[in-house]
Amino acid sequence: MAKVLVYGSGGRDHCLADKYADSQHVDKVFFMPGNPGVAHTPKGKRGLIERVAPDAADDFEAVARFCREQAVDLVDIGSENPLSRGLVDVLNAHGIATVGPQQEFARIESDRAFTDFLLTAAGVPKPAYRVFNDPDKARRYVRNIGYQVVVKANGLAAGKGALVCDDAAAAEAAVDAIMVERRFGDAGRRVVVEERKYGSEISFFAYLDGRHVMPLRMFCQDYKPAFDPEDHETIERFGGNLNTGGTGCYCPHRLVGDALVNRIVREIVNPTVEVIYNRLGWPYKGVLYFGLNLDDDNALSVFEINVRHGDPEFEVLARKLSSDLFEIGMAVWEGRLDRVRQVWNARHYVDVIAMEGRSKASRGWNPGYPKRYGKGHAITGLDRLERGLAVYFAGVDEHDERSLVTYGGRVLHLVAGGDTLEQARRTAYANIEKLAFVDHRQNGANCMRYRRTIGL
Ligand code: GLY
Repeated sequence: MAKVLVYGSGGRDHCLADKYADSQHVDKVFFMPGNPGVAHTPKGKRGLIERVAPDAADDFEAVARFCREQAVDLVDIGSENPLSRGLVDVLNAHGIATVGPQQEFARIESDRAFTDFLLTAAGVPKPAYRVFNDPDKARRYVRNIGYQVVVKANGLAAGKGALVCDDAAAAEAAVDAIMVERRFGDAGRRVVVEERKYGSEISFFAYLDGRHVMPLRMFCQDYKPAFDPEDHETIERFGGNLNTGGTGCYCPHRLVGDALVNRIVREIVNPTVEVIYNRLGWPYKGVLYFGLNLDDDNALSVFEINVRHGDPEFEVLARKLSSDLFEIGMAVWEGRLDRVRQVWNARHYVDVIAMEGRSKASRGWNPGYPKRYGKGHAITGLDRLERGLAVYFAGVDEHDERSLVTYGGRVLHLVAGGDTLEQARRTAYANIEKLAFVDHRQNGANCMRYRRTIGL
């Protein structure tokens, strides 16, 4: 039997660990640095998924030593940051098998100018855009551009660094938020000002093994805005419907079908992979995530490429995928993707993310995610959830007295399945209502918030 290490700590990483633990070939999944939520799931309790959080998780040589000592067969790296810092390069130098691109190849996500070069070389349509190092020049540009834009932090911002703007004033404010206030940290040293596209957003994924490409013939819809569109009062209080890394997701996307999948593969995936393998000569092994727009004239364009699975997209795709993830992961490493069969079950899945909402601060109030949010609220109701649901933990911590408590803005994913989308939605919402984030300092006030329109 095999051992896998999933490197990461968020909801997508917990889901990866869970999916590897389902493999018929795997009897142990290490989750590093992981999160304490895992111990509250059946697979965590049985020891199938074990959290290992050495102080040295940031020391990649120490991670490699751990893998050698424990005879780990495969390491899957869930997020872009360790990829960009070269974790794969270090592990491969020690002969350890990995799913994830090398440091140099992670530029596809971390450097928008490079993404643009790639898409241009591939002849793949993309929105018009410009990059700025200077906030004054960026402000002047958005004031005069004459169409709506999305302002993005150029560096890595975990899928959160994009501000969708309705007018020039909002675009100027977005430049300030990213470049001056540094809302997304150093990722905001440069901004990308991109033409805003209308239509349907599609998150599309493909596995690469250095020689072959296996596009997933299934895709899903992420819900990035923080609030339901009809929640006017909150949107006004927050100064707009801020974009997040995702507040929920459903799968299959209402547009999934052979004709569109074939078009995406032909027009977008194959030309991009052709440049990566043949023009750049890169033996890329891992996931490519294409953020796509299908406009009202039925034209496809790419607004982002990432070097990892989407979060929360993977949480629903993993439930829908019946193939063995360890077999896919080993095929990625060994260059055998041409021999892998992807099997999808017939069900529908909805992921609703429970977030930290408004809570009392020591002085005044925390507005809640995606702005400043409170921490340390006890997560209750998990024992009342129906069987058969998946819970993937993200921003959680362990407290001596209050057990599992909130720690991040996006706290947990509740994923429900059903024979129809409506049934999956009903189950997800009937169950998330059983949960609460309890503030013991405020007479047990519930600080949990979630969007009510996922899947609609
Ligand atoms: N769901 C968006 C992302 O993962 O970047």
